[in-house]
Amino acid sequence: MGNPNRSKAEKGLMRWVDDRFPATQMWEDHLSKYYAPKNFNFWYFFGSLALLVLVNQILTGIWLTMSYNPSAEGAFASVEYIMRDVEYGWLLRYLHSTGASAFFAVVYLHMFRGLMYGSYRQPRELIWIFGMAIYLALMAEAFMGYLLPWGQMSYWGAQVIISLFGAIPWVGEDLQQWIRGDYLISGITLNRFFSLHVIALPIVLLALVVLHILALHEVGSNNPDGIEIKQNKDEKGIPVDGIPFHPYYSVKDIVGVVVFLFVFLMVVFFFPEGGGYFIEKPNFEPANALKTPDHIAPVWYFTPFYAMLRAVTYPLFGVDAKFWGVVVMGGAIAILFVLPWLDRSPVKSMRYKGILSKAWLVIFAISFVVLGVLGAIPATDERTVIAQIATLLYFVFFLAMPFYTRMEKTKPVPERITG
Ligand code: HEM
Repeated sequence: MGNPNRSKAEKGLMRWVDDRFPATQMWEDHLSKYYAPKNFNFWYFFGSLALLVLVNQILTGIWLTMSYNPSAEGAFASVEYIMRDVEYGWLLRYLHSTGASAFFAVVYLHMFRGLMYGSYRQPRELIWIFGMAIYLALMAEAFMGYLLPWGQMSYWGAQVIISLFGAIPWVGEDLQQWIRGDYLISGITLNRFFSLHVIALPIVLLALVVLHILALHEVGSNNPDGIEIKQNKDEKGIPVDGIPFHPYYSVKDIVGVVVFLFVFLMVVFFFPEGGGYFIEKPNFEPANALKTPDHIAPVWYFTPFYAMLRAVTYPLFGVDAKFWGVVVMGGAIAILFVLPWLDRSPVKSMRYKGILSKAWLVIFAISFVVLGVLGAIPATDERTVIAQIATLLYFVFFLAMPFYTRMEKTKPVPERITG
């Protein structure tokens, strides 16, 4: 494909394939002739790292499924069997459980890059919306996967989340029962979560990732300057500030992959439980419907939203506070979908935005982290007040965006990429 040193036989074979399938065309469109801005920085590693983690989850998941038993009687024991008796079973499991945390870490950094450089702005709204759909599917995937080891936290975590649906007026009770497939979380629930976790949601995730990348390659990548490189092309129609993705970024991404694997494998080999944050301590005990753990908390990547849920403590219009907590939590995710229409700044990148945008992005990031910490520890009166303030700031970042992005003074954007 595009290689002049290829033998006659190789060229013949490639022509045979190309006459029947657009292999060379696809290679060129998505790699060797996909022109990416030449100023990609550290933050641009996380898209390819997310792909790497996705592949890791699918491969280790397939092998775990070979020895896992999706029944209330056998699930916990089969995980122990994988850990002790299956050849390299411990490695498969730790790659998968650490992979789940790595997935969220990588995706959160990937989304933050989007916030910094305005990658969600016109013409990339659909890339962002597909990304948000991926995020939702990923949350569902992680939630259902967590029930499978059938430990105490698997059971009670699922209990808390499913009971949220019970807060919906009128239909809540029935909805909960419909999700569980039983009067309480049982082997039936485990079976359906298993099916969704290993088949339905991975298919949805893969399809969404394909759509995400097709949308990206249709409009082209943004960059830290937020300049459209397609507006400045040479006589051959190639963007002057673009370089072919392959080999330039395919090789550069290897650096990111090596550094990532170094950190990731260090966790897998030396700290697989992540101090109780990646695999929570109560999950080493089998699920017991008669014994509630002292402190129920979701895994770290859900804790910001859990803190928002607990921050809502007042009933309103005669409806329980829990319902409004669910509304706030859902709203916190839903508002991200409309982000492309909230940002009214004349410039895309934080580099050229004014002080208000910069300050609000910092406030937003701090609020999210504070909520994450609060969601992981038991609530007290003081902590609830802090969670309420952080939740408020989280929403103000978005709701005030149409105003502060228009009010502030921006810097002039250069014609060409600055490096
Ligand atoms: C499985 C999860 C995901 C995968 C595999 C993935 C993959 C990628 C890849 C390979 C790129 C191009 C390289 C890069 O710009 O870093 C990209 C770009 C992008 N992604 Fe994702 N992504 C995922 C999730 C998300 C999520 C959750 C969002 C946001 C809600 C998102 C928003 C974006 C945006 C806006 C771009 C364009 C960035 C730019 O051009 O500056 N992605 N994604």
